[in-house]
Amino acid sequence: MQPRWNQWRILSLLTGLLILKVNASVVLNYRNYFPPNFQTDFLLGREAYFFGSYQWAFWVHLFSGPVSLVLGLLLINEKFLKNYRPWHRFLGRLQAINVLALLVPSGFWMSFYAASGTQAAVSFAILSLLTGTTIAMGWRTAVQRRFADHRRWMLRNFTLLCSAVILRVCFGAATVLEYDPIWLDPTVTWGCWIMPLVILEVAFRRRKQPSSKFADLLIPTNRHQSPTLL
Ligand code: HEM
Repeated sequence: MQPRWNQWRILSLLTGLLILKVNASVVLNYRNYFPPNFQTDFLLGREAYFFGSYQWAFWVHLFSGPVSLVLGLLLINEKFLKNYRPWHRFLGRLQAINVLALLVPSGFWMSFYAASGTQAAVSFAILSLLTGTTIAMGWRTAVQRRFADHRRWMLRNFTLLCSAVILRVCFGAATVLEYDPIWLDPTVTWGCWIMPLVILEVAFRRRKQPSSKFADLLIPTNRHQSPTLL
C-alpha cells in the first residue's frame, strides 16, 4: 500500500511542477505582448483587429489565465486545505471571481478569433462555457456544504484549466519533433480538454465513493457554524 501511495505523491508533484513550468514560460513570453509584437507566433496576422475589442479580452486573459492555474494548484492541495482552511475559502472565492468574471468571458471572446479556424473556435467556446459551469457548480455545492460534490466539480474545473498546459505541451513537442500533420490542430484543440475530462470521469466512476477524507476536512466541527463556506 505504502509504495503505491508514494508513487501517487511523486506523480502529483511532477504534474504540479510541469504545470508551474509551463505557466512560467507562458508568462515569460509576455515580453512579446508589452508592447504587442505582431511578428511573434501568436500575434502574427492579428494587427487588423487587435486594437478593437480583442485587445481588452487579450489583456484580461493574459492576467486571469496564469492566476487561475496557480490558485487552482493551491486549492486542490489537501494539505493546504487542512492547514490553511480560511485561506482555502478566501482563495476559492477569488478563483471563482477570476474564472467567472475574467477568464471565461475573455476566452469566449477570443475563441471567435482562433488562429486555427472554426473547429478551434467551437472547441474553445465550448471549453469556456464548461469551465464557467464547473466552477459555478463548485461554488454552489460548497455553499450547500455538499463537499464531496464540491471536490468533484472543482477537480473538473481544474482539469479544464489544465487544457491550456496540455495544449502547449502537445504543440511544443510537435514543434521540437518538426511534426505537423493536418490532423494535429483539431486533435489537440479538442483533445486537450476532452481526453483529460473523460479520464477524470472514468476515475470518478471507478472509485464509486469519492474521497470523503476531503469532505471531512471541509466540514466544520462546530455544527452551528454558518453553512456558507464560500
Ligand atoms: C480553460 C479556459 C480557457 C479558454 C476557453 C481559453 C481560451 C483561449 C483562446 C480562445 C485563446 C486564443 C487562441 C487562438 O486565437 O488561437 C487563448 C489564448 C491564450 N490563453 Fe487561454 N483559455 C483558457 C485558459 C487559459 C489558461 C488557464 C491560461 C494560463 C496559462 C491561458 C493563457 C492564455 C494565453 C497566455 C494566451 C495567449 C497566447 C499565448 O501567449 O500562448 N488560457 N486562450
